[in-house]
Amino acid sequence: MRTLGTSGPAVSDIGLGCMGMSDLYGPADEAESLETIHAALDAGVTLLDTGDYYGMGHNELLIRDALKVRNRDQVVISVKCGALRDPKGNWLGIDGRPAAVKNFLAYTLRRLGTDRVDIYRLSPVDPAVPIEDTVGAMAEMVKAGFVRHIGLSEAGSETVRRAQAVHPICDLQIEYSLISRGIEKEILPTCRELGVGITAYGVLSRGLISGHWTAKRTTAPNDFRSHSPRFSTEHVGHNLRLVEQLRRVAESKNATVAQVAIAWVLSRGVDIVPLVGARRRERLTEALGALALNLTEDDLDQIERAVPADAAAGERYAPVLMATLDSERRP
Ligand SMILES: NC(=O)c1ccc[n+]([C@@H]2O[C@H](COP(=O)([O-])OP(=O)(O)OC[C@H]3O[C@@H](n4cnc5c(N)ncnc54)[C@H](OP(=O)(O)O)[C@@H]3O)[C@@H](O)[C@H]2O)c1
Repeated sequence: MRTLGTSGPAVSDIGLGCMGMSDLYGPADEAESLETIHAALDAGVTLLDTGDYYGMGHNELLIRDALKVRNRDQVVISVKCGALRDPKGNWLGIDGRPAAVKNFLAYTLRRLGTDRVDIYRLSPVDPAVPIEDTVGAMAEMVKAGFVRHIGLSEAGSETVRRAQAVHPICDLQIEYSLISRGIEKEILPTCRELGVGITAYGVLSRGLISGHWTAKRTTAPNDFRSHSPRFSTEHVGHNLRLVEQLRRVAESKNATVAQVAIAWVLSRGVDIVPLVGARRRERLTEALGALALNLTEDDLDQIERAVPADAAAGERYAPVLMATLDSERRP
């Protein structure tokens, strides 16, 4: 188990991110998604991450169905809100206004079939609304018993500091992997100073560094990866060559590429909880195998040489999105 920050709950070392079961990574099999959530809970995973906008409510309904036959009290449900979508799934922006946040929460509670959300966060930060206002509204919801803990998503250091001054923040959810190391310089040290934990997403870079991706794989227009610079024809070859270098290290450890990538994130500190986006039991079993992998100093050196920081080609989001992310803002 790992504790999320100084104010947050204890959760399993690895959390299950459910997004891909409803959205963004191509078609998913609903029955297999439910089996995967059950298998994760049975294996000791206690953190389920979702967003109200993943499949426009579908992901929350899926979690509700999965928890009908499990003990909800043993699960930490982390929910993101704020992103706005139309009925076709097009992205319309972000709304972090206090009234909007309370409204999102009301619908989330109903869809999840629960009386409280364990960790609630706006994702991403709304540049038009002071974070104090958004977190202030969430703090009211904590007081009223509808939310247990407050988190943040893709927030920069200054925003984390401002939010923490309003209410304890248990974790910042942000992309962190062997090929996305942007938080190391400033954001991670700030979180550590403030006692804010990290839930790391994209630890497999959305499948790119899982060891299962190939340059030949095609993606539908509504698949996130169709618009990700790292998966573009221009960059994917370079990035997959890094994966092959990592595969050599993995093989020397009798492990898979995905396991080494997850174990590397686990090795960065006990205040970091990787979320894995497994959508099938087979992938989940592989991901959880990372927990048994002990990376020595020598292994970590080899990994660093195989995939040096900043070795990836292409940014982690398309330029238009990068420009809006609070975590990518430069003073
Ligand atoms: N806060 C934010 O802004 C934000 C953004 C994105 C995601 N998230 C959260 O993070 C969670 C994880 O998503 P992610 O993007 O970070 O996913 P990820 O774990 O980096 O990648 C998941 C993809 O990798 C592939 N994969 C291959 N081997 C795998 C293995 N052994 N275990 C797991 N996946 C494997 C899966 O594809 P196949 O199923 O096709 O094999 C899956 O679609 C999401 O569910 C969501 O909750 C948060």
